[in-house]
Amino acid sequence: MRPLRICLVASELAPFAKTGGLADVLLGLGRWLGRKPKGSAAAAAAPPAGAPSAGAGHDVRVFVPFYKRIADSALKADSALKTVPLPGAQNIDVRFPQRSIRFSIRVAPLPQSDVLVHFVDCPELYGRPEIYTNEGDEALRFAMLSRAVLETCQRLQWSPDLVHCNDWHTGLLPLYLRTVYAWDRLFANTKTLLSIHNIGYQGFFPESQLDTIGLGDQRAHVHHGDLRNGTFSFLKTGVLHATRLSTVSITYAKEIQTSEYGMGMEELLRTRSQDLLGIVNGVDYGEWNPSSDPLIPHHFDANNLAGKSRMKAALLSRMQLPHDPRAPVFGVVSRLTAQKGFELFADSIPVFLQREDMRLCVLGSGESEHEKYFQWLRDTWPKKVGIYRGFQEELAHWIEAGSDVFLMPSRFEPCGLNQMYSLRYGTPPVVRRTGGLADTVEPWNPTTQTGTGFLFDEYSSQALAGTLDWVFRNWRDQRGWQQLIKNGMQRDFSWERQGPEYVALYRSILGA
Ligand code: ADP
Ligand code: GLC
Repeated sequence: MRPLRICLVASELAPFAKTGGLADVLLGLGRWLGRKPKGSAAAAAAPPAGAPSAGAGHDVRVFVPFYKRIADSALKADSALKTVPLPGAQNIDVRFPQRSIRFSIRVAPLPQSDVLVHFVDCPELYGRPEIYTNEGDEALRFAMLSRAVLETCQRLQWSPDLVHCNDWHTGLLPLYLRTVYAWDRLFANTKTLLSIHNIGYQGFFPESQLDTIGLGDQRAHVHHGDLRNGTFSFLKTGVLHATRLSTVSITYAKEIQTSEYGMGMEELLRTRSQDLLGIVNGVDYGEWNPSSDPLIPHHFDANNLAGKSRMKAALLSRMQLPHDPRAPVFGVVSRLTAQKGFELFADSIPVFLQREDMRLCVLGSGESEHEKYFQWLRDTWPKKVGIYRGFQEELAHWIEAGSDVFLMPSRFEPCGLNQMYSLRYGTPPVVRRTGGLADTVEPWNPTTQTGTGFLFDEYSSQALAGTLDWVFRNWRDQRGWQQLIKNGMQRDFSWERQGPEYVALYRSILGA
């Protein structure tokens, strides 16, 4: 079968611009899709260092904004990121009704792959300290991303088989393709896939902004109910116009069609139920692997866990907490938002901190009520709780590696990567049975010695507390615990396994 021409578009891409799992998925999927298949002449000639060898060998082009943080880091003399202007894609003016906005494309290889990242260089819109803003032109910033992708394809005369859009930021691309660019034969056979990574962010803006972004005469194609309320949504527009839809786990694909999880989009999604597929995210074990992770000082694998004990000691010392091998360390690495369920800690965690010899290491930032709560825990139990407020890639790897238990009590979780990372790092997760957590964590059964973690159903502090009790009881049986760790470490969520599901979906879209 011929390789596909795939255009991957998103607002985040690890390691350049990341606030959450979207960035990791774009990196892992992009790498895998573009990697030459095992045994091909090209793969034999240039195997990327440290990377698994079996890939898909497609012609993949990834598009992300050239945010200020990326531009600044590319400028540093010792930076690993070297971008160059892409010939033929310089100083392109995109016409919006009120004015034109100019962009250029700079390219650089996706680390450890042959795939080229296309950075949309538009300082006027992306030259800001943050990836996301609350400024008045946020709609324009991401409308521009979609336009820039299509304009670049035109300049290069590169006709994608499929544009794979991700989340609300790219939601307008299918509509632009069907309207503003409908005249261009280049796109005559181009199909679109919109992947929903989080329905909690729908990209709502005042309806008047449709004029600003050049879709003023397309109101008929925008969700009518929203227009009546004076708004429109990027994500809904994408759901209406993408050829197909996907989301990042099988359970979440079902959940978002219900009123409990659909966040107002359930009805619309039900109308496209036949076109919506759940594919569980992959893990890039080139980045997240305790036996080779360059961000941790002690390495280990399922057959030799000595390095994990050393990581536990190192983590506690880094968090300035006393070390005792018998006291379990609970880890949290998270955006601190309502989605993640930390409100359940309020009536559960203090009981355990009071009663048990345990440690809690938290890395995260977000809503101030959660930040304050964790600070209160730290102030109240300074010998048991360590927190780091902020975003710190290295510490995230340390917590995965040095903890004994990973806490992820999410209210909803489209997929979740952290629980899969923690499984590989020998850190059994405690999760609520929702979304991708339900699809990737299997309940530990000490009788049969099967399972990989701990699950609870009801979204309540009591349910979480009951599960933590159960965790402590199992922790006391260290022989069983070692088996639990091994079970999790042996699970394989690699892109080598998950990626082919995307390719099968792409091919079914193209064949349809
Ligand atoms: P989400 O995308 O909803 O935030 P995921 O579990 O899919 O949840 O992915 C989260 C990703 O972001 C992981 O790679 C995790 O390590 C990372 N992450 C989250 N918060 C932080 C932080 N404060 N510092 C470093 N990495 C973080
Ligand atoms: C979102 C979701 C998370 C998912 C990630 C990548 O941010 O909250 O569950 O793993 O996207 O798909």
